[in-house]
Amino acid sequence: MKFGYFDDQNKEYVITTPQTPLPWINYLGSEDFFSLVSNTAGGYSFYRDARMRRLTRYRYNSSPLDMDGHRIYIKDGETVWNPGWQPTKTPLDSYSCRHGLGYTILEGKKDGVTARQELFVPKGDACELDRVTVCNGSTVVKELDLFSYVEFCLWNAVDDSTNFQRNYSTGEVEVEGGAIYHKTEYRERRSHYAVFWANCPVDSFDTTRDAFCGVYGGPADPQAVRAGQCSGSIAHGWAPVGALHIHLTLAPGESHSILFGLGYIENPQQEKFIAPGVINKTRAHAMMERYATDAQVDAARAALRTHWEQLLSTYHLESGDEKLDRMVNIWHQYQCMVTFNMSRSASYYESGTGRGMGFRDSCQDLLGFVHIIPSRARERILDIAATQFADGSAYHQYQPLTKKGNRDIGTGFNDDPLWLIAGTAAYLRETGDWSILDEQVPFDNDASKAQSLMEHLRRSFNFTCTHLGPHGLPLIGRADWNDCLNLNCFSEHPGESFQITGPSEGPVAESVFIAGMFVKYGHEYAQLCDHLNLTEEAAAARKHIDAVEQATLTAGWDGAWFRRAYDAFGKPIGSKECTEGQIFIEPQGMCVMAGIGKESGQAAQALASVEERLDTKYGVVLLQPAYTSYQLNLGEISSYPPGYKENAGIFCHNNPWISCAEATLGHGDRAFAVYRKTCPAYIEDISEIHRTEPYVYSQMVAGKDAPTFGEAKNSWLTGTAAWTFFNISQYILGIQPTLDGLKVDPCIPHTLSGFTVTRRFRGAVYHITVDNAAGVQHGIKAVTVDGKAISGNVLPLAAAGTEVTVQVTMG
Ligand code: BGC
Ligand code: NOJ
Repeated sequence: MKFGYFDDQNKEYVITTPQTPLPWINYLGSEDFFSLVSNTAGGYSFYRDARMRRLTRYRYNSSPLDMDGHRIYIKDGETVWNPGWQPTKTPLDSYSCRHGLGYTILEGKKDGVTARQELFVPKGDACELDRVTVCNGSTVVKELDLFSYVEFCLWNAVDDSTNFQRNYSTGEVEVEGGAIYHKTEYRERRSHYAVFWANCPVDSFDTTRDAFCGVYGGPADPQAVRAGQCSGSIAHGWAPVGALHIHLTLAPGESHSILFGLGYIENPQQEKFIAPGVINKTRAHAMMERYATDAQVDAARAALRTHWEQLLSTYHLESGDEKLDRMVNIWHQYQCMVTFNMSRSASYYESGTGRGMGFRDSCQDLLGFVHIIPSRARERILDIAATQFADGSAYHQYQPLTKKGNRDIGTGFNDDPLWLIAGTAAYLRETGDWSILDEQVPFDNDASKAQSLMEHLRRSFNFTCTHLGPHGLPLIGRADWNDCLNLNCFSEHPGESFQITGPSEGPVAESVFIAGMFVKYGHEYAQLCDHLNLTEEAAAARKHIDAVEQATLTAGWDGAWFRRAYDAFGKPIGSKECTEGQIFIEPQGMCVMAGIGKESGQAAQALASVEERLDTKYGVVLLQPAYTSYQLNLGEISSYPPGYKENAGIFCHNNPWISCAEATLGHGDRAFAVYRKTCPAYIEDISEIHRTEPYVYSQMVAGKDAPTFGEAKNSWLTGTAAWTFFNISQYILGIQPTLDGLKVDPCIPHTLSGFTVTRRFRGAVYHITVDNAAGVQHGIKAVTVDGKAISGNVLPLAAAGTEVTVQVTMG
């Protein structure tokens, strides 16, 4: 069943009922100011950091669901309704929600009145704009009361939801004309405030929740709206809100637009106040003036559209398969931008208060983002590297506002260092900007300990070399990519962190997955050394890599697939010797991508085992058989009921690894079959089973052992975004940036007779046509550039500003 449809022309998903199986959201903003907005206008806003600069409140696990947001109420006689249906839930005569690139448009109709709420964050500004257009389509004059409402968060989202004895006394506001200034803690150590305004005079306002909603009321039935009038309340502590009311008289056929804004302003310390206790509003006034008229708002919308068109023009596909084209050209890349911005911090499932930016997460996000805005990828790489320690290990997470490593979770995730090589190498392949390796980057955010980025990568590589276990395989530490395989933790007490309980380093537990990573990204590191003429270092690196590869093919091999790990007692995990957890997805994907066992046939055998044992109709599950009870030596993985999350869920992130691995072996049919199973556009029809948004990936789909097989959870913020785009764009369609130029090496289903890709690369545009009349899955017969045959399939670098035509014949 579907709850909407794709509008590819406008690059939108159009939701046609407010009662989707779960709130279906969108992200507004891609620089400093962000809002999450659901299909009923629920959501929240923050500036840069969802924990430390939260502008509006959100209660994640509330019942009813999704009650907090940027709400528009319309009172028409005795009827009160919202254009997005929530929170009054007054039945609408018609409803639609268009989630587009950085904007959302809700439109509701009731008793002849149409209200359209258009939300976006303009480029280059720290505010959310909500333009509300009300149209009287009836035959009578309408007297309407319009209310716009938000509930402020007192900046620190953790304190705001826990420390009530203090924060019920700190809330402060100022009101000036049609603008409400939220200035809690501005009197002391903050020099930022929020402004909530309308671009026209208002008839009344409220700034306390008690006055607007009623002490025992709520957003579903605010007493001020029922009364048709706010009371002019001024918040002194408790819960400050912004509520603006405008009365409209509309003749039949008449319509009227009002702009509501929610902005974030920072003042220099010496310019904080204009009088004792009175905030300096100059910057807020300037912000309001930028969006005073409809024409200005239209221009800001148009600029946003142009921005996205330009971003998406870097990689454009025409394949004849509309689902594939819409994913590649719109939704994959859009989700890559969002995951790049958010890492795993703020969604409807991530509270924004816990995780901040993940080291491994953000490094992987680069794989799908680096072509979109390389300069931002560059900055991110340097930020991430600055949270590495001098021994090559790394903070597992850092806070976006301070860019400082998070000491609570600390270090000890032994895959982390290698992901820095992965992200940096991807950046170099895309840009050829070797200067990044010379940048001086601190260790542990301490500028006195700065070294070149190349030295950081060297230490990443050496970290694995110096942390090998009894079988010559890398030690796992607290956990590798699979945060829930906690082999050194032995957590026995409820509430303890599975990951950081126990020693961070065990001398025995080893990871075959990290071995695969070391071979794959170790080779990428060695290639960088080659380019820098570090010949001896490259040779020495390859010796280490070969040794780990050998260990993987022997101690890491179980007979028909790669083992997953060795536990703290040296017993294999992911082996036929185990009763549960005999085979895991991760090492099969990573080792085969690294080319391990390609020659010996072990790689092909491992993938055949995946197909036989792990594949399902909704995707490839993480392991089999699922763990049925908690195992102290395994940790969190066995804490989940069978079929959920890392315990045999369909973890979407590592499905593309299998697809990439199949492509590595030239299996185009299978690579695409795996891609398709979890791909949102192909499963839109089962939205009632899948439940999360049909335009983006979720972290996990319940596996075949789960009672809710096929149901997804944790949408939006997942490494799946980057890996899937990396997979489809580079492994399957085969347009691969390399250090030497763009390489074309498709591995496609034999039924796909060809496709074209337009690729902007290092300043030039390549129009690439791939002809597969031969009906093969892999292999190239001929390549011409501007009509001339070239040898091999790496395209000569075209001069910046030029366009070249490339013809590739498969066969
Ligand atoms: C989840 C993992 C996640 C980890 C982060 C676990 O509970 O299952 O997916 O990476 O928490 O701390
Ligand atoms: C989600 C985390 O963000 C990611 O870092 C981890 O690799 C996966 N879960 C698997 O546990």
